[in-house]
Amino acid sequence: MTDTKQLFIEADQTQLFQNWDGLSPEDQQILLSNLEKISSKKAPAKLLEDCQHAIEFSQANSSKDADVNVQPLPHTSYESLIGNGDNEDEYRQVGLEAIGKGEVAVILMAGGQGTRLGSSQPKGCYDIGLPSKKSLFQIQAEKLIRLQEMVEANKVEIPWYIMTSGPTRAATEAYFEEHQYFGLRKEQITFFNQGTLPAFDLTGEHFLMKDPVSLTESPDGNGGLYRAIKENGLIEDFDKRGVKHVYMYCVDNVLSKMADPVFIGFAIKHGFELATKAVRKRDAHESVGLIATKNSKPCVIEYSEISNELAEAEDEEGLLKLRAGNIVNHYYLVDLLKRDLGQWCETMPYHIAKKKIPAYDSTTGKYSKPTEPNGIKLEQFIFDVFETVPLDKFGCLEVDRSKEFSPLKNGPGSNNDNPETSRLAYLHLGTSWLKDAGAIVKDGVLVEVSNKLSYAGENLSQFKGQVFDKNGTTLEK
Ligand code: UD1
Repeated sequence: MTDTKQLFIEADQTQLFQNWDGLSPEDQQILLSNLEKISSKKAPAKLLEDCQHAIEFSQANSSKDADVNVQPLPHTSYESLIGNGDNEDEYRQVGLEAIGKGEVAVILMAGGQGTRLGSSQPKGCYDIGLPSKKSLFQIQAEKLIRLQEMVEANKVEIPWYIMTSGPTRAATEAYFEEHQYFGLRKEQITFFNQGTLPAFDLTGEHFLMKDPVSLTESPDGNGGLYRAIKENGLIEDFDKRGVKHVYMYCVDNVLSKMADPVFIGFAIKHGFELATKAVRKRDAHESVGLIATKNSKPCVIEYSEISNELAEAEDEEGLLKLRAGNIVNHYYLVDLLKRDLGQWCETMPYHIAKKKIPAYDSTTGKYSKPTEPNGIKLEQFIFDVFETVPLDKFGCLEVDRSKEFSPLKNGPGSNNDNPETSRLAYLHLGTSWLKDAGAIVKDGVLVEVSNKLSYAGENLSQFKGQVFDKNGTTLEK
């Protein structure tokens, strides 16, 4: 018996070989080579152990004991820009300076499969229905173009690293190529893949098969970013390009302020090694993680793992006690990544997600398409490393939701966080910029303002006094 087969049998995975004799010699080889690819990264017994730990971790998290010692962040780590723009100009200046010196890079997480949205394309290609029909990727590219123009004197290029996964890589790259990188230079963009993990049955004791020769695998969660940074040599690339600060964000937020100078300046000014943005939580049960502290260490309590009691708890003023909603915009000091990335990759926990996973049963030779969850996917969460950063090196900036957060999570016709809410949020923001610049926009009219023209409301004085009285207009550069 081959070593690989032996490894899986010793880990009690005989189900994988039920039909061994029925496979052609070629297919036997393919199965072995697929299994070897998995076991060369981590031994099967260790993967099964990780899954058991994740099941225990999830049970411990959902018990009320987990709520003990969870508190909002202290004021030393928390600043709100809402109704308080005192420091904003100074932060912006500091951030723009760093961008101008070529010290800032952007990482985009675009490896998710968008199952809730119900689209088979990568989420970034989604057309949310703007008059211009621009996709999320195009909007993001145009924000970078405008930012570069704002520091043009320095002729800077902001490197854009795009994390994809097995299921999203080819379509994402092809989409960028087809659109000539939306006016950016091809060399400015680096695509890299996150890893995958096998799926398990509901007991966590067996791997699931996708077909007679392969296991079911799925992306390892957005926390897979750290391993992907390490394995794809991004740190070396940062050094080569002189990058000292990284801005990371998610593909699904049409309002994401890529390389936001204010946020970068906030982190630099306070000497934070890791920082994150928050919006006020909409209601106790909004599907956002909550930025807080646990045992005096920074953390995020994920919406899928919080108890009702803690989600609904109020403070003395009758506000939600935990209300710093996580929008997954992070700042990392490159020196922090150099110091701690290796350790993060080794110690980050896994979380379980119970899913309906199409599977092949090698005993019966049948494929199933379950209607109820039949298996477990393991995921790492990007914020699980927050607790390793000392509180005085961790910052959180509260920003205005209407300017920074409108995620695309659900399909058309759903209650919230869908293409229509994203479209409206984007149009309302652009229209508010125009009004602030002195344009006359008739009631009920929404105008699309290209981010190539304006990154955050600047550069619109030319429209002062101009009347906008119909929908469907896009102001382009
Ligand atoms: C995430 C946050 C949640 C936050 C919310 C805001 C985590 C674990 N949870 O939840 O706290 O309040 O966003 O919108 O961060 N992705 C990958 N690879 C993967 C999985 C996801 O790149 O394997 C990317 C997605 O493409 C997306 C982002 O990570 O850009 C967020 O993923 P998603 O699964 O939609 O997160 P939520 O459950 O909404």
